[in-house]
Amino acid sequence: MPLPKTPPKTFHVKSFGCQMNAYDGERMAELLSAGGLAPTDDAGAADLVVLNTCHIRERATEKVYSDIGRLRKGGRDPLIAVAGCVAQAEGEEIVRRARADVVVGPQAYHELPALVARAAAGQSALDTEMDLDPVFGQRKFGRLPARRSRTASAFLTVQEGCDKFCTYCVVPYTRGAEVSRPWAQVLDEARALVDGGAREITLLGQNVNAWTGEDEAGRAQGLAGLIRALDRLPGLERIRYTTSHPNDMAGDLIAAHADVEKLMPFLHLPVQAGSDRVLKAMNRSHTRDTYLRLLDRVRAARPDIALSGDFIVGFPGETEAEFAETLSLVGEVRYAQAYSFKYSARPGTPAASMTDTVPADVMDDRLQRLQAALGRDQLAFNRHSVGRTCRVLLERPGKLAGQKIGRSPWMQSVHLLTDAPIGALVDVTLADAGPVSLAGVERVPIAA
Ligand code: 5AD
Ligand code: SF4
Repeated sequence: MPLPKTPPKTFHVKSFGCQMNAYDGERMAELLSAGGLAPTDDAGAADLVVLNTCHIRERATEKVYSDIGRLRKGGRDPLIAVAGCVAQAEGEEIVRRARADVVVGPQAYHELPALVARAAAGQSALDTEMDLDPVFGQRKFGRLPARRSRTASAFLTVQEGCDKFCTYCVVPYTRGAEVSRPWAQVLDEARALVDGGAREITLLGQNVNAWTGEDEAGRAQGLAGLIRALDRLPGLERIRYTTSHPNDMAGDLIAAHADVEKLMPFLHLPVQAGSDRVLKAMNRSHTRDTYLRLLDRVRAARPDIALSGDFIVGFPGETEAEFAETLSLVGEVRYAQAYSFKYSARPGTPAASMTDTVPADVMDDRLQRLQAALGRDQLAFNRHSVGRTCRVLLERPGKLAGQKIGRSPWMQSVHLLTDAPIGALVDVTLADAGPVSLAGVERVPIAA
């Protein structure tokens, strides 16, 4: 049994992994602040450190153990809370091996202050209960204060979990079944974000386009309906959503890209691989062809849409010819940006027991070739944008005096000189393109 510790006065939340973790990290910080603790940027000086972990790839667990070791260096003994997917996957093992004070799974974050108080009193503090109640939010977010945005662009989690069971992926185990946050809760939080200064909202979910709910009139709605309701929210200028699964890309969502002006022309739609044999072994439940036809429909609705994807190279059994099919798919789609990863066996997933593993040097080589192709297309997309005039949402200051950095509708990072404040939408002509960003020139209206 751990010894009692002095109740913490300061805290630091360190989030790893996806945007949903970033959002959860903000929520936990708000909850701790509401409980009277003061946030600090210095993890090494905080009385309580929350490690908000990610389990999706490579050595995540080891990293948590080494982080905890580092935090305890030099005789320091802060309270350590492990949150996120490693907490969910490892549970008690973390307390046993690394003497974490609190272990809290993604479904139990509202319990964090109580768990911290228990740990400070020297009691065990572990909650990795998986809440399968479809009334999402009642348990996890329902009792939290309305969220205030500090940024022009804010995240809003509307869906959690995954029922797809891709054979390589831990998410269905660590985040549980797909659950949607109720309509009214989402709209309330969106209003609070806009009141706090957000001009753009990105709806988040592991399978965000699987969101379902009922509107105030009791009508069944999908993500498209929610987007249309947000479109009517005064003060909100831009809507985005991520991540989507090809099989949940409903016709009305595609149609929303054609006629909802605030919905930005950007779609992150992971494909993972270009070979039908590999897709089947991954249990992706779409083929190369159904994916490509889907993109045809999306492009027909919104011709300028910027496409993004996720890729895994070196899935067990992937041959050179099958990898070449991924390269040829990339050549056909011409992504505006993408994420690519080496396959990493995740304990407990079906693929982890597949024996025909791809050697590390082959994986390295394939990742390099894939990234070269994706980089080439990203640069081409950026170059193709030069000369366009678009609105840029200013998100942060740049390094140079008077410089600001914002995003184009197509999610590109745009650097420009302007006196307009952060949070403003300015008209910009895109003037020059690099591999990961563009330079823009503010269009100054000609005085009458
Ligand atoms: N190995 C490598 N990449 C993975 N991803 C998910 N699980 C694994 C794994 N075991 C990638 C997928 C997914 C993204 C979030 O992470 O590409 O879309
Ligand atoms: Fe993982 Fe597949 Fe679900 Fe995405 S769709 S979270 S890759 S199981």
